[in-house]
Amino acid sequence: MRDHMLTAIDAAAGLEALDAVRIEALGKQGRVTQLLKTLGGMTAEERQEQGPRINGLREAVATAIASRKAVLETVALDMRLASETIDLTLPADAPLAGTIHPVSQVMDELAEIFADLGFAVATGPEIEDDWYNFTALNIPETHPARAMHDTFYFPDEVDPGTGAVTKRTVLRTHTSPVQIRAMQAAGGNTPIRIIAPGRTYRSDSDATHTPMFHQVEGLVIDKGITLGHLKWTLETFLKAYFERDDIVLRLRPSYFPFTEPSAEIDVGYSVVKGKRVIGGADGWMEVLGSGMVHRTVLEAGGYDPDVWQGFAFGCGIDRLAMLKYGMDDLRAFFDGDVRWLKHYGFSSLDVPTLSGGVGA
Ligand code: DAH
Repeated sequence: MRDHMLTAIDAAAGLEALDAVRIEALGKQGRVTQLLKTLGGMTAEERQEQGPRINGLREAVATAIASRKAVLETVALDMRLASETIDLTLPADAPLAGTIHPVSQVMDELAEIFADLGFAVATGPEIEDDWYNFTALNIPETHPARAMHDTFYFPDEVDPGTGAVTKRTVLRTHTSPVQIRAMQAAGGNTPIRIIAPGRTYRSDSDATHTPMFHQVEGLVIDKGITLGHLKWTLETFLKAYFERDDIVLRLRPSYFPFTEPSAEIDVGYSVVKGKRVIGGADGWMEVLGSGMVHRTVLEAGGYDPDVWQGFAFGCGIDRLAMLKYGMDDLRAFFDGDVRWLKHYGFSSLDVPTLSGGVGA
């Protein structure tokens, strides 16, 4: 019986056939199950002899089924992968209906607005060194801000000899590490004006948080930079971005490890048909974090803080998009639902320009 069953298992040509063999052997009425039932009616001696034999059979059959199942599943997957390929190089027979995602659109709008103010676009890696993401930004190992970031860590790289950690990497929790990279690239002796838009990651998920989201960072380094420059720049940016002149800013004292002093930027909103709209002064909405670059951060970037000053700011791009274009659930941004993309997406011909309107 054992050989017969094992042969049948090996011969099963597909998952359905294998399941039929399984039911025949191990199902409620299965042959092995029936055998197991006979143990109850045996004398203790008989059971001592037959028990291990029948249980051994059950185990051998179950193991053989499991390994055959793994093989058949791999074959089935390979077949599916081979049959479901799409040749992306084929010309489409219908006109392409794709739209520009609002996040891409807003990134283009940011680049356009800030280019006009003399800012270049800088980038940095999304898999970031712990030093750039935290330490160089004045967030040492023991700093509570590390816990606040819900960081995705990679396994530490360890020296096999000493056991010491040689490299610690994270999915960057903010775009701020690009500040350090931009300073290093500039060599410590030239002014900087950059924005750094890009993907960021935190282990968080609800209507206003997704594990991957987008931020834009801004950094200005020069001699004689003050909070006044920061306020003017952000006011000019927000007026251009929201395309209205009645943008009112409130700088609220706050704390970020990488800036001193730090300010949260609240923007005035008005209520139109029950919805909050940026502009006016019915209430305040927190939009950006900002401040004067901390001495420690300037030093980490290779700048002498007694000679150079700077301001920095950061905010969520997805949130900027929601505030301007009226979506209220962030998760829908990343669902890839064509109906949502049709509704909120932009035509590829709507390139934002300051002269034509960045709102497209
Ligand atoms: N990195 C901060 C965050 O993710 C945002 C931020 C705040 C960036 C203040 C800055 C800044 O450059 O000055 O919450």
